[in-house]
Amino acid sequence: MNIAIFGMGYVGAVSGACLAQLGHKVIGVDVNPTKVNMINEGVSPIIEKDIDQIIKEQTSSGNYSATTNTAEAIDATDVAFICVGTPSQRNGSLSLKAVEHVSEQIGEVLKGMDRYYVVVVRSTVLPGTVESVVVPILEKASGKKAGEDFGVCMNPEFLREGSSVYDFYNPPKNVIGQIDKRSGDAVFEIYRKIEAPTFRTELTVAEMVKYSDNCFHALKVSFANEVGNIASSLGIDSHKVMEIFCSDTKLNLSPYYLKPGFAFGGSCLPKDLRALTYKAKTLDIEVPVLNSILPSNREQVAKTIREIMQYKGKKIGFLGLSFKGGTDDLRESPIVEVIETVLGKGLSVKIYDKFVSIARLMGANKEYIEKEIPHISTLMVESATEIAENCDVVVIGNKSDEFKDAIASMKEGQVVIDLVRITEDWEDLAADYSGICW
Ligand SMILES: NC(=O)c1ccc[n+]([C@@H]2O[C@H](COP(=O)([O-])OP(=O)(O)OC[C@H]3O[C@@H](n4cnc5c(N)ncnc54)[C@H](O)[C@@H]3O)[C@@H](O)[C@H]2O)c1
Repeated sequence: MNIAIFGMGYVGAVSGACLAQLGHKVIGVDVNPTKVNMINEGVSPIIEKDIDQIIKEQTSSGNYSATTNTAEAIDATDVAFICVGTPSQRNGSLSLKAVEHVSEQIGEVLKGMDRYYVVVVRSTVLPGTVESVVVPILEKASGKKAGEDFGVCMNPEFLREGSSVYDFYNPPKNVIGQIDKRSGDAVFEIYRKIEAPTFRTELTVAEMVKYSDNCFHALKVSFANEVGNIASSLGIDSHKVMEIFCSDTKLNLSPYYLKPGFAFGGSCLPKDLRALTYKAKTLDIEVPVLNSILPSNREQVAKTIREIMQYKGKKIGFLGLSFKGGTDDLRESPIVEVIETVLGKGLSVKIYDKFVSIARLMGANKEYIEKEIPHISTLMVESATEIAENCDVVVIGNKSDEFKDAIASMKEGQVVIDLVRITEDWEDLAADYSGICW
């Protein structure tokens, strides 16, 4: 394909060179004439492993060239990738100046074009930017309609400086946010020769994935460093610890614990976080990441309480009382905290939890229930259906097929607050559905 790349920085120069090597014809565009001249002379504008040779080969074969002229680049191509910088401003916000400028320039050329063209944002931009900034600028400047007269995609870049050529050919994934299928098909075609799990999705999902990735990578580094600082001050080899930690692909490096939902609880995570952060304190070691986890967890509890308090005066039913399904363990169950708070604020509450009901009669937890939460255990009813039939608002606290069946029978006018994403097809529910963070 014929591709224009706007921005000959780390992302643009490497993407351009590698796309040319893949067999596409690429024209790089940059406002900086020095970078443009360097590309045209076959010299890399950035220092990066393997890139010099690729640029030399691809420019001498005529597959890769550069210009400062937007119209020239757009006229000769079918797809434009926007790879310009989006630096931080002094207050931390993202500067979209270059993205806006390029979008306007591209839009002006699209105005006089009588064929289909696709604009792809590859720069990192916050969710909503493509739809609310890039598309309106393109539409205004071109007088045309995105998704009809021209295509728009968000295709985030996952390369790491230092190994960017390798990363281009071996990406962890290819994410194509598309305004419509036709736009996405064009980008999909460009990467056809590169093997990677490909996700075609909404523009905003693609934008958000990039931020989730980078924030998580940053979190991983700081987490490992804090573990390292505590371990080393105790004379423990932190690398041995993290090697074993990373070998666990069931619970540690896995999708487990990475699903947005309710707060964690139970008899281990809160207790062990408290113990380790207290130990760090006694060692005079700062662990801001570890210290921030319990406050973050409390905020998820507070958010749930705020959601429920909107229904003051209504009958509230809770499905699931323990901190996760299939257990009667109520120690540090965050849903118990939610119930205690809303009860204290005067809400009328009923609760159903099969395992807690059994434990209440004869289980090992009988004593805990009678001593610690007698005020709550008296609010328990015998079935999920009883809750679904008699309560105005039903809060789902943990996962079970029984709860799923019960909410399926709820009627219009009733409300479901789902803390655990018990169902994926809530559009089919008659009751008004809301997820805690989706
Ligand atoms: N560097 C990385 O490792 C990396 C990885 C993934 C994503 N990203 C994202 O990709 C984007 C680009 O990053 P980068 O590191 O390549 O930036 P960079 O600063 O190295 O390069 C940006 C280039 O855009 C050019 N430019 C600015 N305004 C222009 C305009 N109006 N027309 C044409 N060119 C213009 C600049 O002259 C510069 O050469 C950013 O949003 C960044 O967050 C970067």
